[in-house]
Amino acid sequence: MEDKKTLFSAIQPSGILTIGNYLGALRNFKKLQDDYNSIFSVADLHTLTVRQDPATLRKNIYELTALYLACGINPEKSILFIQSHVSAHAELTWVLNTICYPGELSRMTQFKEKSKTHEDNVNMGLMDYPVLMASDILLYQSDLVPVGADQKQHLELSRDIAIRFNNRFGETFTVPDGYIPKTAARVMSLQEPTKKMSKSDANLNAFISMDDDPDTVIRKFKRAVTDSDNRIIFSEDKPGISNLLTIYAAITEKSIADVEKEFAGLGYGDFKLRVGEAVANVIEPIRQEKNKLLANRDYLDDVLKNGAERAERVAYRTLAKVYKKVGLVARKRG
Ligand code: TRP
Repeated sequence: MEDKKTLFSAIQPSGILTIGNYLGALRNFKKLQDDYNSIFSVADLHTLTVRQDPATLRKNIYELTALYLACGINPEKSILFIQSHVSAHAELTWVLNTICYPGELSRMTQFKEKSKTHEDNVNMGLMDYPVLMASDILLYQSDLVPVGADQKQHLELSRDIAIRFNNRFGETFTVPDGYIPKTAARVMSLQEPTKKMSKSDANLNAFISMDDDPDTVIRKFKRAVTDSDNRIIFSEDKPGISNLLTIYAAITEKSIADVEKEFAGLGYGDFKLRVGEAVANVIEPIRQEKNKLLANRDYLDDVLKNGAERAERVAYRTLAKVYKKVGLVARKRG
């Protein structure tokens, strides 16, 4: 690899991705891949921690692969691979489990939340989720890990695990830095703008999926909740309007101040239409490209094969080092 720092990130193939995922993650990945040795993963093993329909999961893995590519991840530059294709992820998780404790894992916010939302399936994998995530990151000696704000605690734990291992067994892992992009505007629900936009919202009008066609996008924005005032300004007591301004500013890469000026004096109806059109203009070409890619399964399989081969070389080097440090005997080859 070139003399650049290493960046790692992953997304779970757990179904619909929203414009929140795009603005907070995928769009930045495209930009970052020029400045870093970038590795992007489809975190399929993580997804198994909540109940999945196998056929749907398989479909979602290809969907996410195609979406990464459609959003501009260049497989010649970056490594794009499926987590389960590189078995070192599961293997390193085993070793790291031996230096992690139930107390710290059961204290993780996401574990506590998911234990409530999936109370019929609080399995060991759910609790071990952050250790698998640490393995993802540490296997590649990653310097930088772009994550959403909700993953910050897991990233902190990854750093703790790296430091703990290094202290106990000698310098082995790069201690990664998190990167929560400034432009990762918090995109809120279109229906209840004090809540985060979520793909699992029962009200389909609350979120914009990357799969929504332009008519759907515009219709959802037209129905977005606003307020009874008529000023288009960013303000805490105007969560609906502020959210629309945030989305428009993020999607057009303008400042909130400029966007406020742009819309000054406009009625809410026209404003919502303009935001809807701007979003549709950005995501429609991505949707089309993704669908084109999905129709070419052989190409996707080739990209993933190549990605796994490249990822594997790095990952096994780290795993061999870890096995040696903890005292395992290297297998003789050839
Ligand atoms: N847990 C992350 C999420 O849900 C996805 C993920 C898995 C990840 N492994 C990772 C993110 C490693 C960054 C680095 O968003």
